[in-house]
Amino acid sequence: MERKALYAGSFDPVTNGHLNIIERAAKMYDSLTVAIVINPNKTGFFTVEERAEIAREVTKHIPNVRVDTFSGLLADYVNENGFIASVRGLRATTDFENELQMAQMNAKLFTGATETVFLMTEPEYSFISSSLIKEVASLGGCVDDLVPPYVVSRIMEKLDK
Ligand code: COA
Repeated sequence: MERKALYAGSFDPVTNGHLNIIERAAKMYDSLTVAIVINPNKTGFFTVEERAEIAREVTKHIPNVRVDTFSGLLADYVNENGFIASVRGLRATTDFENELQMAQMNAKLFTGATETVFLMTEPEYSFISSSLIKEVASLGGCVDDLVPPYVVSRIMEKLDK
């Protein structure tokens, strides 16, 4: 049986921190689905379609990664697709409380034996967040080492710089 894992998030846009988690998780499972969560209450910097296209482009070197989108409950998406793991990256202790709460809620909602699996972010990526990347880039700061080159070009295009 294929051992399928999920890495869900807003990915607005994918950063080097996300990519590091994706590359490591892809080695642990037969396949990894990077799923962009459609949140109708949140207007993104990139549209969901743009985020998915960017995620496909920057993960195309990893053969067992696919990119998808979903709306609604993560647990429903997991239950419908038979993922054995929902991967999350932990950057700092500040991530912990929220992640613990979501993992425990999801454990109640998963109908199968799906585990939430945490990977510790490597220290060089621990301060990165998509919001900070967008803020720094929009104010003229350099984000070259923090996101893949393709993402830099897409951010610049969006900012019309
Ligand atoms: N490296 C770099 N940045 C990282 C990172 C890593 N390893 N891991 C997380 N981040 C950043 C993201 O860039 C994002 O930054 P931003 O807030 O500045 O944009 C932030 O951490 C949050 O990451 P995200 O993956 O979008 O998680 P989230 O906490 O917003 O939401 C979901 C997690 C999407 C999985 C959750 O909201 C969900 O399951 N939604 C579906 C609805 C649902 O089921 N709700 C009930 C949940 S129990």
